[in-house]
Amino acid sequence: MLDFLRQEKISEKLIAEIKHYRNFYKVNPDVEYRIPTPKYNYYGKEIWEEAITAIICGENLLLVGPKASGKNVFAENLSAAFGRPLWDISFHVNTDFSSLIGEDTFKNGQVVLRHGPIYECAALGGFGVLDEINMARNESIALLHAVLDFRRVIDIPGYDRIPLKDSTRFIATMNYGYAGTRELNEALVSRFMVIDMPTISSENLMKLLRQEFPNMKDNYVEQFTGLFKDLQKKSENSEISTKSVDLRGLLSSIHLIDRGLKASRALEMGIVNKSFDNFEREIIEDVIHLRIPENVERSEIFSN
Ligand SMILES: Nc1ncnc2c1ncn2[C@@H]1O[C@H](COP(=O)(O)OP(=O)(O)OP(=O)(O)O)[C@@H](O)[C@H]1O
Ligand SMILES: [Mg+2]
Repeated sequence: MLDFLRQEKISEKLIAEIKHYRNFYKVNPDVEYRIPTPKYNYYGKEIWEEAITAIICGENLLLVGPKASGKNVFAENLSAAFGRPLWDISFHVNTDFSSLIGEDTFKNGQVVLRHGPIYECAALGGFGVLDEINMARNESIALLHAVLDFRRVIDIPGYDRIPLKDSTRFIATMNYGYAGTRELNEALVSRFMVIDMPTISSENLMKLLRQEFPNMKDNYVEQFTGLFKDLQKKSENSEISTKSVDLRGLLSSIHLIDRGLKASRALEMGIVNKSFDNFEREIIEDVIHLRIPENVERSEIFSN
């Protein structure tokens, strides 16, 4: 992971700080298995620098951005870079104190607290990913205020006041615009340093495609990158919605093409069919066909 950061030209000073952090905060062997080995690298030098600096300064992060902008990939990459065990905690309308911190259970005839993920993460000094934090009801996560600000403490009624391990950090993610997303309350947002996740740049998308598909021919690396950017532009100009601007869908489609499915059918599944409006689908298909000929053979796209 640190080699990747060097390759991305992250400053040696920041890399040295990460190393220091890793040496200073040992990981409990019981949770070593939680340190992720990322499937994808996150590309975006500025974002890396902002996040690393904030984490070193003890801050928690809120990653805000559209779908498939790499929020979870980045959270996982950060956890791997800092060598921390990771807890993935999905927020939803019923998220409450007991699901986050813990609840009473009976054990050998006694009432004990069954620890929730926030509790474990805090007690073991991990990185807690508060995924889709704006899906939860603000009032039911008010308990996080003391966890996330200078108090760094979990205060459990009837139990104890547990301080967070120094190395604990929380990385929240949120999407805007989805049906069902809520506005986060200002007091909660105030407890994070906020990173506005950009859509991937052409240069970085080419790197990502080369990494993911080493056998893809150069001109197709350019065409798929161009296709994604064309869709993005059309959506920015309000000619189409954001539904088909789906990097996740594009990557999955390319995997299907690599397996031998016809390109137009794979892209239909990954991109076109994300829209349910016939008029919009036609525009999307036209955009695709300008870049990827309808009857293109696999062998034209991949070298082996
Ligand atoms: N800057 C980037 N660098 C590397 N991969 C990226 C980048 N942006 C998006 N991706 C790719 O997009 C896909 C989706 O990433 P991820 O699941 O992290 O998105 P997300 O922002 O959490 O999306 P959602 O809001 O839908 O949950 C992954 O395959 C990831 O590799
Ligand atoms: Mg996500």
